[in-house]
Amino acid sequence: MQKLVIEGGKRLRGEVVLQGSKNSSLPIMAGAILTGGECVLENCPILTDIYSASRILNNLGCRCSFSGNTAVIDSSGANCCEIPEKLMREMRSSIMFMGAMLGRMGECTVSIPGGCELGSRPIDMHLSAMKKMGADIREENGRIICKMTSGKPRGAKISLPFPSVGATENIILCAVLAEGETVINNSAREPEIEDLCRFLQKCGAEIKGAGESRIVIRGREKLHGCEYRIMPDRIACATYLSMAVSAGGEIILKNCCIPETEPFLSVLEQTGCSLYAKNDNIYLRSSLRPKAVRDRIRTMPHPGFPTDAQAVLMAVLACADGTSVFEENIFDCRYRHADELVKMGADIQVMGKIAVVKGVERLHGANVEATDLRGGASLVCGALSAEGTTVIEGLNHIDRGYEKIERAVGLLGGNIKRV
Ligand code: EPU
Repeated sequence: MQKLVIEGGKRLRGEVVLQGSKNSSLPIMAGAILTGGECVLENCPILTDIYSASRILNNLGCRCSFSGNTAVIDSSGANCCEIPEKLMREMRSSIMFMGAMLGRMGECTVSIPGGCELGSRPIDMHLSAMKKMGADIREENGRIICKMTSGKPRGAKISLPFPSVGATENIILCAVLAEGETVINNSAREPEIEDLCRFLQKCGAEIKGAGESRIVIRGREKLHGCEYRIMPDRIACATYLSMAVSAGGEIILKNCCIPETEPFLSVLEQTGCSLYAKNDNIYLRSSLRPKAVRDRIRTMPHPGFPTDAQAVLMAVLACADGTSVFEENIFDCRYRHADELVKMGADIQVMGKIAVVKGVERLHGANVEATDLRGGASLVCGALSAEGTTVIEGLNHIDRGYEKIERAVGLLGGNIKRV
C-alpha cells in the first residue's frame, strides 16, 4: 500500500499548471459513445477514474487510448450494452453510461454504481427520468435492465426534485439522440454540465440553456465525432489554493477557469489571503495565519459554495484565527475527514450537517487515512501546514481525482513523497 509522507511547516512557493476537470471528462467520455465516430479529448487528466471510464468504453466495444493528456475514443464498433458489476462499482460516474447507451443502443444493463462514500447516494432521479423518456426498467439479481420500449428514447418534460448533477447529465446524454424535445426543469447548473453540452454541441447536438436551470434539448438523428478540450478542474484549483493558504506562501496556478471557481474564491479571500487573477492564471499570496470565515459556509448547488471544496477549506480553517462554521447541504455524510484532522490536533465538532471548526495555533503531524477523494486532499492540505511528519494512507481515494498529486505539491514547494 502506497503512502504519502509530508514534512509540514514549510511555506509554499512555486507554480503549477492545473489539470483538466475529472467531473467534466467522465460524462464527456460517456458522451463519446453517442457519436459513433472518433472523439479526441485534450486536457484529459490521468486518473484512476478516467482509466475506469476507458475500461467501460473498451468493454462496450469502443476503442479508447491515451497519449499523454489526450484521449482518443472511437465508438464506431460499440456492440455491447452491458457493463459488468465490477466496472460499475469502480466509480459513481459509471451510471452516466446508462443515458449514453440508451441514446445510442436503446438498451443497457447496469448496476448500482460505486464511488466515494458520502452517505446514501441513490439513483432514483436518474431512473425515473429514463422511464419518462420511454425506458422499461426492471431489477434482476442486482442488475438494472433498461430497454426503450419503442427502440429509442423519446423527448419528455422532466422536473428534477433537486438539481442533481449526475441526473442532469444522464438526461442530456439520453436526450440528444431522442425522438423530439426534452425539457429539464430545475437542472443542475454546474460548469461541468456546460462543458458536457459544449462537447455534445460540437458533435452536432442541439441544446439550449446549458448552465441555466431549464435546459431544452432537441433530439437529432445522428451525431459525429469531434476534437474537444476539457475545461480546467475548478476543485483541483480550490485544493492547491487551499494548500498555499494553509501552509502560507506565494503560488501561481496556471490554466484555471476563474469565473467558474469564483464561488470558492470569494470565500477563500475572507481568510485574508491576497488573490489576483489575470488571463487564466491565479496568483495567491498568503503571509499571515488565516482568519476564520465569519459567515456560515453553506455548501449549495452551483453557483453556491461547492461541496467538493468543503473538506480542503476545513483544513485551512482548522488553524485559522477564530471559529468557522460549515453547513453541508448536498451529502449526508461528508465530514469523515474531520476525525482525521482531529488526529492532527484540529478542534472540530460535527453535529449532523454542521461542523464547528475552532482554529488552533498549529496542527501537528500524525498517521492518518484518506476515506474519500476530497477528504484525502484536505489531509494533504493540513499536513503541509502541520509541524512534523504526516503519513497519509488510502491513496487510492486521492488518485481518483488528482493527477500526480505529489508532483503538483512538489512543484508548489511542498516537501512530499510517495513511498
Ligand atoms: N441524489 C438523489 N437521487 C439521485 C441523484 C442524487 O437523492 O438520483 C442526491 C445525492 O444523494 C446527493 C445529492 O442528490 O445527496 C446531489 O447529488 P448529485 O447527483 O448532484 O451528485 P453526483 O452527480 O453524484 C457530482 C460529482 C460530485 C459532486 C456532486 C455535487 C461527478 C462524477 N461527481 O456527483 O463530485 O460532489 O456532483 O456537486 O461529477 C468529487 O468529485 O469528489 C465528487 C464527489
